[in-house]
Amino acid sequence: MEITVVGVGYVGAVAAACLAAAGHRVVGIDTDPDRVNMLRSGALPFYEPGLEEIVRSAIADGCLEFAHGATFDQPVGDVALIAVGTPQAPDGSADLCRVRAALSWVVDRRRSGALVVMKSTVPPGTGRHLIERYLAGTDLRYVANPEFLRQGRAVHDWQHPDRIVIGASPGDAGSVAAVKSLYAGTRAPFVVTDVTTAEMIKYAANAFLATRVSFINEIASLCDRVGASVNDVSTGLALDPRTGGRMYAGLGYGGSCLPKDLGALHHLGMAGSLDLELLRAVIKVNDRQRLLPLHALRERFGDLTGVPVAVLGLAFKPGTDDVREAPGIDLIRDLVAGGACVAAYDPQASDNGRDYLPLEVRIAATPQETAVGAQAIVLATEWDQCLNADWPEIANLVRRPCFLFDGRNALDAHEIERHGFHYIGIGEQGHAQYSPPPCASE
Ligand SMILES: NC(=O)c1ccc[n+]([C@@H]2O[C@H](COP(=O)([O-])OP(=O)(O)OC[C@H]3O[C@@H](n4cnc5c(N)ncnc54)[C@H](O)[C@@H]3O)[C@@H](O)[C@H]2O)c1
Repeated sequence: MEITVVGVGYVGAVAAACLAAAGHRVVGIDTDPDRVNMLRSGALPFYEPGLEEIVRSAIADGCLEFAHGATFDQPVGDVALIAVGTPQAPDGSADLCRVRAALSWVVDRRRSGALVVMKSTVPPGTGRHLIERYLAGTDLRYVANPEFLRQGRAVHDWQHPDRIVIGASPGDAGSVAAVKSLYAGTRAPFVVTDVTTAEMIKYAANAFLATRVSFINEIASLCDRVGASVNDVSTGLALDPRTGGRMYAGLGYGGSCLPKDLGALHHLGMAGSLDLELLRAVIKVNDRQRLLPLHALRERFGDLTGVPVAVLGLAFKPGTDDVREAPGIDLIRDLVAGGACVAAYDPQASDNGRDYLPLEVRIAATPQETAVGAQAIVLATEWDQCLNADWPEIANLVRRPCFLFDGRNALDAHEIERHGFHYIGIGEQGHAQYSPPPCASE
């Protein structure tokens, strides 16, 4: 098939490259000329393991091209896949300007009978509106096909999805079959439904994931109060099939999807006079979670003025250079505002992080360099390079006593303490502050 992918960011570039590798002829379109030029030369404008090789090989095979939207004057392919960003608008809703612009662009260059596949995450009800507003009077067809890939594992997730959700207009079996053919060879189950329900599945998935994160984080806070271990609690919960897989306590969720999608869902509820109280609590717990290292350091140092702090990890999670809504970035801003002298390290996200950080933050090339003279270290992203850092050497470089706040509960507390650090985990090291009230008869 001939496929046009509109928007070649984290989702679109993966889709374009993997569809080309599967034998389709793909053109990736973007409004950012630098992005287009980099991709044309076979280089990635962002870090995503395994993707560059696929892009290069597909370009060499003649199956994959990239073009700037403004200068592309041919009709789109049999399929036009839209993967532009849907960031949060100032009022909390999803900003759909890019989606509207991308769809107009497709309509202006339409090929008769082409299929528009919406990969961008758009609020439930958007597709129905877009069909009426932009596709009426054309023979273009529309399908919602939300994407579930995870940055850092995007190529794997595209090639081995858990499920493929297809939302089509009633009776449009042809479009459903066309989307299924894009995923030929994958074993994932298909969920075929209407457009609005497909959109809702994506938001519900993100909201549920975020809820699980905030749930275990709230339990972790309680573990700290009563002297229980959240890691063991999580193991105990994971063995019950009704409560789902393992959950990890930490500094909370971040990135370009969960925060904005929860905001958009909450906004959608309010627009329909429905206050989604659980979602509000999930967001509140997540915001609170990010402040834990700051509170822990204040408790130990009082005033943070002049305290040297090393922060390991800027990306919102390992495997990506994306720092959007990353807990580490927020933490550093708060630390600097509190007077701390901050050094930071990230194996992939240093350049991106620089743009979001105060100028006085020292960006170091290794965990060791970051830790020189530090009185506190905060692990904000559980990169292997941080977990497997040379901790004995780091122990010789820091100033004693040195506190290590493990913001991901990912380090071996005993090992770290063996090197002389004061380890602080989340929901792991609290002291019992609770004793049951006596009975009246006691
Ligand atoms: N990143 C993820 O892990 C992920 C996972 C699932 C779903 N999503 C959803 O997929 C969508 C895309 O996310 P992303 O992370 O790839 O975004 P991104 O910001 O990385 O990339 C979007 C790209 O679209 C381009 N663009 C913007 N307007 C355009 C237009 N009118 N025409 C052509 N190109 C245009 C931008 O220049 C950019 O390169 C979002 O709705 C997001 O919520 C993202």
